[in-house]
Amino acid sequence: MAKTIAEALLEASAALGNKPDHRRDAALLLGHVTGLSRSDVIAHPEALICHAQLSRLQAMTARRRKGHPMAYLIGTQAFWDLDFKVTPDTLIPRPETELLIEIILSQDDTAPKTVMDLGTGSGVIAVTLAAARPDWSVIATDASIKALRIAQQNGAGLTNLDFVAGHWLACFGGVVADIIVANPPYIDPLDSHLAALVFEPQSALVAQDNGYADLKTIIHQSTPLLAKNGYLLLEHGYNQQDAVLREMRLAGYAPTAYCDLAGNPRAVMGHRKETL
Ligand SMILES: C[S@@+](CC[C@H](N)C(=O)[O-])C[C@H]1O[C@@H](n2cnc3c(N)ncnc32)[C@H](O)[C@@H]1O
Repeated sequence: MAKTIAEALLEASAALGNKPDHRRDAALLLGHVTGLSRSDVIAHPEALICHAQLSRLQAMTARRRKGHPMAYLIGTQAFWDLDFKVTPDTLIPRPETELLIEIILSQDDTAPKTVMDLGTGSGVIAVTLAAARPDWSVIATDASIKALRIAQQNGAGLTNLDFVAGHWLACFGGVVADIIVANPPYIDPLDSHLAALVFEPQSALVAQDNGYADLKTIIHQSTPLLAKNGYLLLEHGYNQQDAVLREMRLAGYAPTAYCDLAGNPRAVMGHRKETL
């Protein structure tokens, strides 16, 4: 039997647990299965939704109850000023990562740049920078071909953005970049927080050597590929900043530390010294 939007919303919200967050999730899922905007859902509670839409809503609500992230259920995640397609092959972009965009776009030197985004995932960093700076040239790379396909879809239409499959900087002999940026996997394989992240690709989250393996590889591979006055910008875990600063200095960088909006140490920018 067909139900009204109001009935379907109540049912989905109750199935999720009826807290304010659940009501918001139910409204988003309803909007997703019906194609209606949030304001349409609110403005037309009496409109009917068909049986097929109701079944889909019930199936999605059941998956949400099992912990599936909203971003994977509705297939998109907002980042900076854009919406990005995401799938279980890509990490769900986090608001902390916007700090990297903020740092790069707030630099005084706005001359055209060549940027490499390593481990691009859904492409959030590369696409945001390419869209914000049409005169820059951006290269996005990832070891995951499946993730790279999603990034390509997110970057469709941008003519200043290229995609290359590969392991960190190993395939970039001879290329020189002004900015190398990465949000690499940095979680210790034994970290208890991983239990809450089972739906996301572990290859996007976990790094060996207590979470430092990929950070260190990038720091040391990047030095020969940076232009004079170029810089390397890395996101890292909240408790990894001292070690990242140390590793950057070891590689010959002059590093600066940054905190995210929550006040957690979150990024280090290493300036290439003239003598490198
Ligand atoms: C933490 S996710 C970051 C995704 C995206 N940049 C973001 O900020 O949302 C790390 C990404 O690094 C990629 N990755 C893991 N190991 C890699 C490697 N050896 N070489 C290149 N990319 C790698 C993963 O596939 C994943 O997309």
